[in-house]
Amino acid sequence: MPELTILGLESSCDDTAAAVLRGQEILSSVVLGQNELHAAFGGVVPEIAARAHAEKLDLAIEQALVQAGVPVTELDAIAVTAGPGLIGGVLSGVMMAKGIAAATGKPLIGVNHLAGHALTPRLTDGLAFPYLMLLVSGGHCQFLIVRGPQDFKRLGGTIDDAPGEAFDKTARLLGLPQPGGPSVEEAATSGDEKRFRFPRPLLDREGCDLSFSGLKTALLRMRDKLIEEQGGLHRQDVADLCAGFQAAVRDVLAEKTRRALRVYLEENPGEPALAVAGGVAANTALRGALEALCEEHGVTFTAPPLRLCTDNAAMIAYAGGELLAAGEVSDMTLAARPRWPL
Ligand code: KG4
Ligand code: ZN
Repeated sequence: MPELTILGLESSCDDTAAAVLRGQEILSSVVLGQNELHAAFGGVVPEIAARAHAEKLDLAIEQALVQAGVPVTELDAIAVTAGPGLIGGVLSGVMMAKGIAAATGKPLIGVNHLAGHALTPRLTDGLAFPYLMLLVSGGHCQFLIVRGPQDFKRLGGTIDDAPGEAFDKTARLLGLPQPGGPSVEEAATSGDEKRFRFPRPLLDREGCDLSFSGLKTALLRMRDKLIEEQGGLHRQDVADLCAGFQAAVRDVLAEKTRRALRVYLEENPGEPALAVAGGVAANTALRGALEALCEEHGVTFTAPPLRLCTDNAAMIAYAGGELLAAGEVSDMTLAARPRWPL
């Protein structure tokens, strides 16, 4: 069977992305970010994001097709994120995909954004089902046993903030630039993680659920106390607060991953594998802790390259291909869904 050429579209948050995939090969992957549009507001503004997606989707698609050297008539299918996400952006992507599918007569495939992240290790590393996935991004945090392109078992997740969101809020509270993850990580390198005692939320509760909003509250209290006592924050204070915060996130994620691994290994004794995805998977301290954990348990550790860990359209094209192979094609009634649990 010839390898299929699939166009993927992603517009569920603040990246407008298009990619062309042929089989396992990424012919192009264009991501047009919106950081500068939202910077002044300290977070993604849904109205602004929706407008930017509507304005930039055609440009992203054109660039992806030109870079891949594939005319639109040579596409075999169009895959698009149909949720979950900010509804304005998701709608733009779905409408655009429907238009291309109608014009070319090729199949339309609606993809769950989370499934896109969760299936990425199969695209990058050829990982076989089943495997355990830790998805940690600015908007999501969950443990999934990935058993098939549409077969996910959720073991737990955050009950409040996502870890990326917590990194971003921490950066804001300490006057560091956005996105917060990289700037907090950088500041933490010269910090002492033991100076401030951050809580380890939910470790006393059984299961794999997580909570990160308490860390932000703890940080706020420590910051305000320092300001009150010394009239401001010194550079070393910021470094120590970042190191303490990051260590708490690392420890909580590592311990909950240990529990998720236990559940997963009971059900799947075969060739165990843990994969991570999402922007927070870029964090070196977290990666180190997860790698050590996997080594201890004899589990393979997979972390796709960062550009495929964060939001992109290659993962949507890939997930679309898996769905197509399973006979799961959408039609013109495909709806954009703001909420869509796996
Ligand atoms: O997956 P992603 O690009 O977007 C979605 O949320 O879908 O993740 C972005 C998040 C941001 O919150 C950012 O601060 C965080 O990932 N991040 C990091 C690091 N790099 C990015 N968090 C911790 N450490 C990092 N090195
Ligand atoms: Zn995402």
